[in-house]
Amino acid sequence: MALSIPHGGKLINQVNLNYDHSNIHAEIEIDGMALSDLELISNGAFSPLRGFMGQKDYKTVLDKMRLENGTIWSIPITLPISQKAARKLTVGDRVKLTHKNEIYGVMELWEVYKPNKMEEAIKVYQTADKKHPGVKKLFDRPEIYAAGPVTLTKIPPKNPEFTLYSKTPFETRKEFKENNWKTVVGFQTRNPVHRAHEYIQKTALEIVDGLFLNPLVGETKSDDIPAHIRLKSYEVLLKNYYPNNRVFLAVFPAAMRYAGPKEAVFHALVRKNYGCTHFIVGRDHAGVGDYYGTYDAQKIFDQFSHDEIGIEILPFEHSFYCMKCENMASSKTCPHSKENHLHLSGTKVREMLRNGITPPPQFSRPEVIEVLINGLKGPQ
Ligand code: ADX
Repeated sequence: MALSIPHGGKLINQVNLNYDHSNIHAEIEIDGMALSDLELISNGAFSPLRGFMGQKDYKTVLDKMRLENGTIWSIPITLPISQKAARKLTVGDRVKLTHKNEIYGVMELWEVYKPNKMEEAIKVYQTADKKHPGVKKLFDRPEIYAAGPVTLTKIPPKNPEFTLYSKTPFETRKEFKENNWKTVVGFQTRNPVHRAHEYIQKTALEIVDGLFLNPLVGETKSDDIPAHIRLKSYEVLLKNYYPNNRVFLAVFPAAMRYAGPKEAVFHALVRKNYGCTHFIVGRDHAGVGDYYGTYDAQKIFDQFSHDEIGIEILPFEHSFYCMKCENMASSKTCPHSKENHLHLSGTKVREMLRNGITPPPQFSRPEVIEVLINGLKGPQ
């Protein structure tokens, strides 16, 4: 077995840090989410995408979870701009992509179109409820989409604590090869790693060579624990409880969409691009509130053949700590009744920490809790 083949066959590389913008005059100011998408398109994480989606791809992604050419893709990657900005642009031109007065990239403007955001909300998020953070973001962003291939000309700044952990798919693949890993399981998270996460990661690690711990550090909703605090919690956890030659930690700078099942497909494809052969999907992956069924994000993969998706999905039951088993377990492995089960979730950890309650060790490693309490207390 070898590392996975990138989605669409080949890793895209559209980074050119020596790009000469001097004769480009048109400009689009992009938001933080578009900036992270620009980086991830250009560094190959979103292969086979080469740019922000045009209307044909956008439409087939919404209707069929596929690009126009038939390749599986579940989340629209678009560049929203205002009517006013759109009026200043000419299709066919090259446009500088700026954020807070810095130029980060260039786009060949192939198309400008007006999306139906209500349709997008229903098809991607299964709801138009603006209380859903992904839907809210969708409607808060400007109303016109600009599309075309992009080049990243400057690496977006990151929290300096992330530098060591910022890796492109080319770099992670190299790392996995150097470690001699033939099989690598990817793990997406937007939370500190609690015991249920650890349990499913280590269960997976029993059957694969390496674990790619790839926490999302792009935009999240405001009550999620800030990424720089989470990062410290991953470091302390890995140091104390994981064999360091079998785990690789790198950050995933994407924005969280909270699109549940459709985001699970997207997360899996991207981790395939980073080189993973396997990907963990547990309970309510990328979910929020009660918008999705507990296992919807696993069932969605039934629509695709293994060859098409190109990464092995490892589905995990809702896991918990059982007082009688004195162990982590799930309904697949534990015969005891519910009263014996301690249910663990990121939401619950956040709630306890906010109320000054220290979660028990069956819930989260004490070293992790310490880091989180200190992090949340200190200057952020
Ligand atoms: S997510 O939005 O990034 O999916 P989270 O960080 O909570 O949220 O979850 C990371 C991964 O662990 C997801 O695949 C999720 O389904 C899984 N997961 C989280 N908690 C549990 C649990 N108690 N049992 C099984 N899987 C879980």
